[in-house]
Amino acid sequence: MTSVLSPDNPELLAGIYQLYRDFFDLAERKRRWSLTDDIPWDQCNRGIDPAIADVVESFCAVELYLPDYVAKALPMIRANKGWAWFHANWGYEESKHSLALGDWLLRSGMRSEEQMADLEGQVFAHEWNLPHDSPSGMLIYAMVQELATWVHYRNLRRRVDELGDPALSGLLGLITVDERAHHAFYRSVVQMFLRLDRQETLEQLRRVLLTFSMPAVHMLADGRRRMEAIKRLDIFDEDIFLHEVYQPILTVLGVNHQELRHKRTVRKSAPAAASGPLPS
Ligand SMILES: [Fe+2]
Ligand SMILES: [Fe+2]
Repeated sequence: MTSVLSPDNPELLAGIYQLYRDFFDLAERKRRWSLTDDIPWDQCNRGIDPAIADVVESFCAVELYLPDYVAKALPMIRANKGWAWFHANWGYEESKHSLALGDWLLRSGMRSEEQMADLEGQVFAHEWNLPHDSPSGMLIYAMVQELATWVHYRNLRRRVDELGDPALSGLLGLITVDERAHHAFYRSVVQMFLRLDRQETLEQLRRVLLTFSMPAVHMLADGRRRMEAIKRLDIFDEDIFLHEVYQPILTVLGVNHQELRHKRTVRKSAPAAASGPLPS
């Protein structure tokens, strides 16, 4: 592991702790929401297109891998208080997302209790594993994944608003705000990484962007069908990744595409999962 980006680097200890305190203060003042009180549950559209419910179920499944997301990353960062506390708080916020999506599936009548139990059984049958082996690599992955997740929810909400479902629209609005805040926190840490070791950060960013895929959907038995359904509703695909995730991240980090691409010699055939091939 590169020492300068390691969680016990004193600059990262102090810097991430300050970022976390600011993040937490803002979350407590402006962003907390109640599953019970802030969603108009009496306005579920029980006749909504079943394709929307299928995608909600897929997103719920991804959020349900929470025990693995928390348990597998936390030991790597326990020596850095701000980083570890952020992860614990992140876990709390993410826990509400699967509850809200699951509650909508039940209250709208789109799924039964038995179907939800089957879904949870499928999820908990397989453990999700970390896609990157260093804390800094995981944090860079999380920065990209949170923005991609925000795009998924925002686009799903647009489809929902075309059909009408104030309950689902409302909860998706609350979730998108959370996902955007998660992305912003991770992005601030990556900016710190760039100041500490630009070359190593770019190398890891390159690896993350070239191999990026959303977590966990592919682990479900019908993962391919679920991903096709997401594409069919224009919620997420390679093109959306390129224009709404990849390019904005490079722009905000002040990284030139060529700088990223040619920093070091890496196999040209490196896999490009959900992202599709990057532009040359
Ligand atoms: Fe989430
Ligand atoms: Fe998130």
